[in-house]
Amino acid sequence: MILTLAHTKGGVGKSTLAWHIAHGLKQTDKVEIVDMDFNQTLYYINRIAGSPFTVHQPRNVAELYDLISRTTHDVTLIMDIGGFDSDLNRAAIRHSDHVIIPITPDRVTEVLGFRTFDAILSELDTIDTKFHILFNNIHASTRNFDKFKKAVKGERFTILKSAIRSRKIYYSTMGNGQSVFDSIGNVSAQTEIMELIDELRRA
Ligand SMILES: Nc1ncnc2c1ncn2[C@@H]1O[C@H](COP(=O)(O)OP(=O)(O)OP(=O)(O)O)[C@@H](O)[C@H]1O
Ligand SMILES: [Mg+2]
Repeated sequence: MILTLAHTKGGVGKSTLAWHIAHGLKQTDKVEIVDMDFNQTLYYINRIAGSPFTVHQPRNVAELYDLISRTTHDVTLIMDIGGFDSDLNRAAIRHSDHVIIPITPDRVTEVLGFRTFDAILSELDTIDTKFHILFNNIHASTRNFDKFKKAVKGERFTILKSAIRSRKIYYSTMGNGQSVFDSIGNVSAQTEIMELIDELRRA
């Protein structure tokens, strides 16, 4: 399975979520990371962490295709693509089983930026790729998502029921090369990541 975190807008949580989903999935599945972000965020965090994951960094479309064709079916590839448009990013999206698009609902620029990304996706001839919007970094006081759902709705997407709250623990753990799964104290964050993984498995 190929699971890709994607959005042409930067800072929406692609790398943060890719790292934590990889850790959540790793409890039961074989997981490898594909870091296509210019900043190599996951490559460096994985090094700080003592390299718990194999991290691939394809530099062009041919290298990406080679990686995908060499990857056996029992391995889940988590791809973190940078917040920009490129042929390489488009190829990654086209070959993904699931594309997760993180959006922070009450950040109007992210909701508007999503329209640009949606226009790019409309140009891709995907066949079996499933696109999901994931509300991420949600303020503790936000309870009702109806107006945000209206703002991003489109035929291409499902809006995931799982949502990720704004929690310090997501970035404080990453700074040390850890994840929310490294301490039993982070139950709420672990639960929301595992619920997201379960929903994706069913999708
Ligand atoms: N659920 C969350 N709770 C708290 N902070 C979050 C959450 N999600 C993301 N962040 C923070 O938001 C910032 C941007 O996240 P991240 O770097 O993962 O975004 P990105 O989409 O990968 O950005 P880029 O496109 O620049 O690579 C980081 O400081 C990260 O710690
Ligand atoms: Mg990133």
